[in-house]
Amino acid sequence: MTETRGQWSGRLGFILAASGSAIGLGNLWKFPYITHENNGGAFVLVYIAAIAVVGVPIMIAEVLVGRHTQLSPVGALKALGKDRPGGTVWQSLGFLGVLAGFTILSYYSVVAGWTIHYTWMALSGDLAELAVNPDALGAYFGGEFLANGAQQTMYHVLFMGLTTGAVYFGVKGGIERVAKILMPLLGMILVVLVIYSTTTSGFGEAMRFIFNPDFSTLTTGSVLEALGHAFFTLSLGMGAMLTYGSYMGRDISIPRAALQISFLDTLIALMACVIMFSIINTSGVEVSKSSTILFTTIPTVLVKLPGAGLLIALFYVLIGFAALTSTISLLEVVSSYAIDELRWSRHRATLTMGGVITLFGVLNALSLGGNTSLSSFNLIGRQSTQGLFGTMDYLASNWYLPVGGFLVALFVGWVLGPKMTRQELETGHGEFRGYGLWRFLIRFAAPLAVGAIIVSVILGKEYQ
Ligand code: TRP
Repeated sequence: MTETRGQWSGRLGFILAASGSAIGLGNLWKFPYITHENNGGAFVLVYIAAIAVVGVPIMIAEVLVGRHTQLSPVGALKALGKDRPGGTVWQSLGFLGVLAGFTILSYYSVVAGWTIHYTWMALSGDLAELAVNPDALGAYFGGEFLANGAQQTMYHVLFMGLTTGAVYFGVKGGIERVAKILMPLLGMILVVLVIYSTTTSGFGEAMRFIFNPDFSTLTTGSVLEALGHAFFTLSLGMGAMLTYGSYMGRDISIPRAALQISFLDTLIALMACVIMFSIINTSGVEVSKSSTILFTTIPTVLVKLPGAGLLIALFYVLIGFAALTSTISLLEVVSSYAIDELRWSRHRATLTMGGVITLFGVLNALSLGGNTSLSSFNLIGRQSTQGLFGTMDYLASNWYLPVGGFLVALFVGWVLGPKMTRQELETGHGEFRGYGLWRFLIRFAAPLAVGAIIVSVILGKEYQ
């Protein structure tokens, strides 16, 4: 039985679903802490440049391939590669995407699950009690919480359940519907929190930190990290945007949509920084382990405010929402492979793939507490200090996504001809005046910049 292929209801449906994919833990959790680690201002500018010069062109390239073929990554690259240089080799790029989706989802969902626990603790009052003492909360998070395998597993399974449920109901009935409800809510909660931040005494210092660049503190590592993060935050390099593009109508402008999605993603990352740094500066707490500020430092500050329980709950609900529309896109890439290539029904594909990823993710959930037998289990055969969880993140952000993005840029820039790409980009857009610029960026700037990440990883200059 073949089902008809899903489609977005229109432009707004696509924009919201794709922004939902892009906006996630990358914006609310990772961007603020890497901005903090890389000393703010100059890093933020480099990041914005990376989005514009590398991110937007690659997003346009991915969506173009998806909409042209109306297929998910493996099928799309097989179809387009067939009669072109490189032939069927290109479809392995599609498989790399499926593998990346699997890998990222298996640990992303664990972190996303934390938001459920924190929402719950905020409402029950437990968090307020713990957060009175910053050391107590830090100790709780790093010790009791991460080491509680049963609890980690439960929240991960719960989050995967929500994700699988949404993807199960299809492009319009599930993915788009969830995005249409959650994205406006997310926007509203963020605006409330930004307005609140402007009233705090730390706001001015936060703005200076984020928007006043000091290039003397910028290192090569910072530049590479900004580039790598541009990929992650825009959901590029593994065919998520390609897959979403394959459900897009021919009446929508690809370049315009890509610009809007990238703009929204950047805006929200910056808003997250404003909120986070205002809160932190106001509190004057020492941000030592910056990668966990979201779960250790932030509550200790919020807890002092009137109506703290609700405010904190709102805050973690927000992060959970953002994460959910992202995990949905990760599962959709893996599921759509089974739907398009293995001819499975959507229901069978989502339940099977969702189930397998959930099981694999349990290993990640259990590896957090320093369980030695699991943390010595290492996929790439090199000792990772953070166990399985860290290895998954390392593989995805340092290898899969950059290699995937590099190859997409080469394929679209050098293998697909200018006639075909121009025609696709002008469909639903009219004459595309930026075509020359886009083609230059996708042929030269993007491969060079992404190539630099790959070279630095090969040379062992890890930047994460
Ligand atoms: N972009 C999301 C974030 O910033 C994560 C994400 C969702 C993603 N889908 C992806 C990352 C595909 C890479 C590829 O949180």
